[in-house]
Amino acid sequence: MAYYKLIRSYNQSSNNKPANLIRKEFLDYFSKDLKHSIIRSSPVSPIADQTLAFINAGMNQFKGIFLDYYEPPVTKVVNSQKCIRVGGKHNDLSVVGNDSYHHTFFEMLGNWSFGDYFKEDACTYAWNLLTNVYGIPEECLYVTYFGGNEKLGMGPDLECKNIWLKLGLPECKVLPFGIRENFWEMGVSGPCGPCTEIHVDYMKRSTNQAARVNKGYADLMELWNIVFIQYERLANGCIVPLPKHHVDTGMGLERLVTFLQGKKSNYDTDLFQPLFDAIQKHSNAPKYKGTFSDDDTGKIDYGYRILADHARMVTVALADNMLPEQHQKLRRILRNAIDVGEKIFKKPGIVTELACTVADNLGAAYPELCHNLKQVQRIIDFEEDLFKRLRNTSGKKWNKMVEVRPELASITDWMASGLVDGYKELQSMLKELHKTNVLPGSVAFKLYDTYGLNSETIAELAQVESLHFDQIDFEKQLDNCRYQSRIGLDKCSILTKESLRILEENHVSKTNDSFKYNYIYNGSNYEFPALNSKLIGIIINGELVINRNDSKTTKINNVNNRKAININEMLNSTNEIGIILDKTVCYSLEGGQVSDKGNICIKNLLFNIDSVRKVNGYVIHSGHFAKTDLL
Ligand code: ALA
Repeated sequence: MAYYKLIRSYNQSSNNKPANLIRKEFLDYFSKDLKHSIIRSSPVSPIADQTLAFINAGMNQFKGIFLDYYEPPVTKVVNSQKCIRVGGKHNDLSVVGNDSYHHTFFEMLGNWSFGDYFKEDACTYAWNLLTNVYGIPEECLYVTYFGGNEKLGMGPDLECKNIWLKLGLPECKVLPFGIRENFWEMGVSGPCGPCTEIHVDYMKRSTNQAARVNKGYADLMELWNIVFIQYERLANGCIVPLPKHHVDTGMGLERLVTFLQGKKSNYDTDLFQPLFDAIQKHSNAPKYKGTFSDDDTGKIDYGYRILADHARMVTVALADNMLPEQHQKLRRILRNAIDVGEKIFKKPGIVTELACTVADNLGAAYPELCHNLKQVQRIIDFEEDLFKRLRNTSGKKWNKMVEVRPELASITDWMASGLVDGYKELQSMLKELHKTNVLPGSVAFKLYDTYGLNSETIAELAQVESLHFDQIDFEKQLDNCRYQSRIGLDKCSILTKESLRILEENHVSKTNDSFKYNYIYNGSNYEFPALNSKLIGIIINGELVINRNDSKTTKINNVNNRKAININEMLNSTNEIGIILDKTVCYSLEGGQVSDKGNICIKNLLFNIDSVRKVNGYVIHSGHFAKTDLL
């Protein structure tokens, strides 16, 4: 195997290697020795993939190459990808904190071949890296391969099995598994294929542990997944072959570091310990002891794990410009972290502090964590504040309802802002609904659309009221309104489709509303410094008039520059007027938060803002001009 000779001499005593070095060695091995191009981690927010809520694997950014939508500029790449698994096909949320190795956020080390090398090289590269570069003893490693599936009409992947045997593994450590373990799919649709996995025995036992592979033991786990992308799963469920064969691999950095640092749990590595130190320093809580379940008195260690895990996930997502108001999962995880910070560590504001530690720890690999830290911390502060206010309002009302109806205590997302009113509405319909004992799609849709309840909460409410939740009907209703809600028109009567088209055709930039986080809280009020903005357009009587003037004056013409707006008409108008600016300090009506009020001064005119909406990225301030004698 010629490439063995290419390998530079690596320091094989790995026990004290920091995670940052282990990550770097992975990238160096593939880039310097095996001539792969290093590709940056993509943001965790999918840019153009409606099928994903978060980036959940290194291959996501290469999906278009696998599906043959475009030619790759290079055929061999390597990266370390920020991944979040909290929903959909790959969802680890429910186990996070309870075990030593599942996380909401983790780093995936991967190498890819786009129609270049295939099975033999992929397995050999991986084996060589683990055993010769990282120095993992071969006795600790086990491999699995696809054992075939009748339904898919596919036989066992004997080619793969033979490659492992050729590499020197004994047959008793090369194990076939079925579709669940060894056929990897990105989601309900997308690229897919048989895979081979390398598992590692953390206890370094000399006796054969093959019987424990894939049985859910925390001390014998999958380390590296090597996928042979050969097929595409279509939305209708069919699997079709792809024109080219590719390699897609993923190894969890946290698990690798745990083994190489001689630890038993990911949380004992230098990827988490600095966060535990910070939690301890800020809260004065007893030190982290690494206990689980019944041994974990007071659930302190669980609290450490949740707080550290969630702080990493939230910081990474916010630094990639995701916003809690647009991502309910992100908001729930942030609220959970805030809750644990308060209840277990008696330390409000601790998540904001931890964002700093996350940036220190991971900033060398992902510089955006440092660049965007201030913004990240501002958003966490804002959300913590909002969370407290909601708890004091809707939270209290909900508790009263639970006193009357104790079954309601089973509702998981009891902080959902529309829950109290949504449940009241449901109660008013119960007599009628109990005639059929069905919660129809139309009622569920109302709970979703008007009160912002998600389908899990609706299902839980249906269960409390002994109703069958017609989820299929609900999904149909959702589909019907998908287009409208995707662009946001459903939320705003003042901006028509036509106006939206004009804005987009004129390439008018979306409103920058990040200034809404620039406030000073003086103990009772929020003060926002005034902001100078450019007037983009005014909507009056449903008609959009774009401001063609680049200066910050109020000379307004319509889109064809034919007609000037009569300012007196606007002043006397009883109709709703909408103002669009290039930037704003106002918070829009979304995510259970009422919108801000305020005013806009345009030259010597005063516009009072009654409500603020965001439609497809454009913030619309609705209200009316104050009667003034300044004109
Ligand atoms: N895409 C594969 C995974 O996520 C490597 O496991």
